Amino acid sequence: MEAILQTRLTRRTVQKLALALPAPLVAAALSDRAAGIVLAQSTTATSSPVLAPTPACADDDDLEATVPQTEGPFYTPDTPQRQSLLEPGMAGTKLVVSGYVYDTACQPIPGALLDFWQADDAGVYDNVGYRLRGHQFADDEGRFVLETVVPGLYTGRTRHIHVKAQAPNQPVLTTQLYFPDELANATDGIFDPALVMDIEDAADGEVAFFTFVLSTSVA
Ligand SMILES: [Fe+2]
Repeated sequence: MEAILQTRLTRRTVQKLALALPAPLVAAALSDRAAGIVLAQSTTATSSPVLAPTPACADDDDLEATVPQTEGPFYTPDTPQRQSLLEPGMAGTKLVVSGYVYDTACQPIPGALLDFWQADDAGVYDNVGYRLRGHQFADDEGRFVLETVVPGLYTGRTRHIHVKAQAPNQPVLTTQLYFPDELANATDGIFDPALVMDIEDAADGEVAFFTFVLSTSVA
């Protein structure tokens, strides 16, 4: 980990750091939802000494901002605030996405808004209610955890999760997250490899990691 911290902190490096950090954090967070991420930090203190540090950038190594993508036709505003989009009986493979929200100067953005929406396991969006839609705010260290299912494929698109990300009092970034090793990535004209999540298999599904980097400016 030290070697990683000392390397040039590119967007990819941050993503790798996120990959190393939240797995126990996620497990702990989801094992006690009431306490959420904050409790997870303390409960994982004994599991690994490398969990705590938030990476810092060298002066000339600003992070590359997460690229924007099209919103698509299925966004619905005013979503419920929740970290878990799972509902009883929901079909699909469980997916936990976690990571950080940073600014381009590599500072975490506490309270950053993340509003997720996606298709269900069959590739269908709920355009009437709020199924598989929800927003949350990054914690004091810029961390987020989303519990959901792996979205299904639908005609013309590779597998993806939509998201709007916004630092407090800053513009909204609309983008999409992708999955590695999807055949349809090669034929989806919107797909961007910079937005591919790191994925690991978990005992009960998949675990994914992504670091958002938002451009911010003084108002
Ligand atoms: Fe979509």
